[in-house]
Amino acid sequence: MRIALGVTGGVAAYKAAELVRRLQQEAFDVEVLMTRGAEEFVRPLTFAALTGHKVIGAMFAEGSSRQANVESAIEHIAVAQRIDLLLVAPATADVLAKFAAGIADDFLTTLYLATKAPVVVAPAMNVNMWEHRATQENVARLRSRGVCVVAPDEGYLACGMTGAGRLAGHDAILQAVREALDLRRDLSGETVLVTAGPTCEDIDPVRFLTNRSSGRMGYAVAEAAMSRGAEVVLVSGPTALAPPPGLTFVPVRSAEQMRRAVNAHLDSATIVIMAAAVADYRPTLRHPHKVKRGAPSLTLELELSPDILAEIGPRKEDRVVVGFAAETERLADHARRKLKAKPVDLVVANDVSRCDAGFDVDTNVVTFFSRDGSETELPRLTKREVAERILDEVLRLKSRTAHERKNAR
Ligand code: PMT
Repeated sequence: MRIALGVTGGVAAYKAAELVRRLQQEAFDVEVLMTRGAEEFVRPLTFAALTGHKVIGAMFAEGSSRQANVESAIEHIAVAQRIDLLLVAPATADVLAKFAAGIADDFLTTLYLATKAPVVVAPAMNVNMWEHRATQENVARLRSRGVCVVAPDEGYLACGMTGAGRLAGHDAILQAVREALDLRRDLSGETVLVTAGPTCEDIDPVRFLTNRSSGRMGYAVAEAAMSRGAEVVLVSGPTALAPPPGLTFVPVRSAEQMRRAVNAHLDSATIVIMAAAVADYRPTLRHPHKVKRGAPSLTLELELSPDILAEIGPRKEDRVVVGFAAETERLADHARRKLKAKPVDLVVANDVSRCDAGFDVDTNVVTFFSRDGSETELPRLTKREVAERILDEVLRLKSRTAHERKNAR
């Protein structure tokens, strides 16, 4: 999910850098907008380095060319449409007044009018300014329009006075963000181990066997779990995707490396979700030098690679384990067989012969085969939506097991 973080000019502007980190730890993609005042307190470079995105500055900057101003005007519409939430922290009395009055004289205030995303503001200012009737009326007006205002904390202020005006704590701001987005935190306390992407099995130093997995399904699971409060370990084969910030990322290449990484992190995991497309066979020999063209034919001998999911069996204990089934025919038969043969509570079966499901697309069409006998066919969904549904099913199976244990006592 994408958040635009507006930073306005106040001493608390430096705290926005740590806030960016906290938002990233919850899998939000953050882009920062700074007012001219904010740039007096913190350099835009700080936020660019933290977010990996260019920082959007004041609109219609003095001395800008007409072309630059037109581009800026178009950009604020693009930002308004792509964000899931606008957060302003710290928010000065000035920006609250402009939001309340509908004044749009820079990028941030224009964005506020242009976006339909929920808005959260966290004011920070001198106590008298905060308590002034003008500010309080602006705050009341914003609240009546649905803006979430995270009230400032009381304490010693930069101006030397004591009272309400300190930027609210990051926990309170994050809670307001989650509530505004209606996000659940039902996986807090859980550690989710996810595998994603393909494996590469080397034939020689320049050639390898692999498959079409892009990693998108596994990364979507990792991001969804993180945003629902879980600690996440993502073991990933080579993909073109950037590692989501805020999780433990373990890059691997071969099935053997993936096996070692899964074994190393299994103890800490309470939930395991294996979305990687692991090689079933690998070359028996890895040639130390490039195999030269010449012989009219070449036979490549393959051997079975480790079945990482099957090996979890003896160490499964209370963990909820989810395996995928990538099939091109008789999906249900193969998935039911995997449910019996492998140490899994849930098999997520996808028909990878479809062009809107499985490998290297943004959507998936899956059926759940659960240990308790239930089978659920889902419609075509984005991979993020599939990920959320997998996590819902994991929680359902977990609470069912806990209920059965209680009744057995
Ligand atoms: O990465 P994307 O482009 O988004 O594509 C998503 C996906 C198609 C890769 C994903 O949805 C998927 O189906 N992943 C599992 C692919 C696969 O290897 O399926 P399988 O039926 O061969 O394996 C069954 C299960 O055993 C899987 O959970 C797999 O991770 C695991 N396995 C397989 C082989 C092996 N040697 N070790 C394993 O642990």
